[in-house]
Amino acid sequence: MNFGTYAWRNGEWVAFEDCTVHVTTHALHYGSSVFEGIRAYSTPQGPAVFRLQPHTKRMVNSCKLAKIDLPYSADQINSAILETIRRNGHDSCYVRPLAFRGQGAMGLEGRKNSTDLVILTMEWGRYLGSDAIENGVDVQISSWRRMAPGTASSWGKIGGQYINSQFISMEAHDNGFHEGLALDINGYVSEGAGENVFVVVDGVVITPGSWASILLGVTRDSAITLLKEMGVEVRFEPIPRDMLYLADEVFFTGTAAEITPVRSIDRIPVGSGTRGPITKAVQDRFFGITSGAVEDKYGWLSYVNK
Ligand SMILES: Cc1ncc(COP(=O)(O)O)c(C=O)c1O
Repeated sequence: MNFGTYAWRNGEWVAFEDCTVHVTTHALHYGSSVFEGIRAYSTPQGPAVFRLQPHTKRMVNSCKLAKIDLPYSADQINSAILETIRRNGHDSCYVRPLAFRGQGAMGLEGRKNSTDLVILTMEWGRYLGSDAIENGVDVQISSWRRMAPGTASSWGKIGGQYINSQFISMEAHDNGFHEGLALDINGYVSEGAGENVFVVVDGVVITPGSWASILLGVTRDSAITLLKEMGVEVRFEPIPRDMLYLADEVFFTGTAAEITPVRSIDRIPVGSGTRGPITKAVQDRFFGITSGAVEDKYGWLSYVNK
């Protein structure tokens, strides 16, 4: 992976190689960290960050849920992200802001420990493989469930919780699938290891609601906006597993996965087993905006060099 030359750490620039931690760092032991994944796209006006503000807002909210004191405002984080991309000279990149409890006391209650905030940038291609955007991915329903309500905080992008996503993802890879999809504790569809999921049935799009142990994805929100713009009805409903197997189309959304068709689930082809028309139409709008080819009427792009 090609990381940028510089990392931003607690308001200072450090060489990427020197951006390291001690083994007593609280987050290494207990997962007490919060992070974001953000993409900057190449456009004719230089690199532009896609939906910077909602990502930063979610980071601030995740810290609130995890009771991590973030000593920087959303505006300061936004400026630092843009400056890190500029300094590292990326045309496009993935941005990883990470807040974590640092050194101090060992033990679960780590709130007296320092909080570190780092921002890393890296050049990163297609998360689910280079032809996934067109041809789709093969998905397995995981034997792992998403966290039950009241056991953790699915709305927060909190480091320790990602062991659940790792279980889902590793199991799928071991079984020869591109990605795993988890049900919630009630047996209804929740989300992928690192993606939200949408199902198309008879021209209507259905996605699990905020109650279904999902992360409230920024790409999910973007897809919903674009689908509504296309005149497509979007419903938030519990999705039985059966509906996945019988759907006309299924697609994933996520900063890493962008908008990716799902071509099979548990080796059962989704619809015709190729990308469906609603998936393609929403992809075209999405990639039109991110590439700067289509008017950014929602103000989703923050240009790095402005
Ligand atoms: C568990 C999980 N669900 C959904 C998503 C998609 O969220 P977003 O579109 O904000 O990247 C992600 C990625 O951040 C994720 O990790």
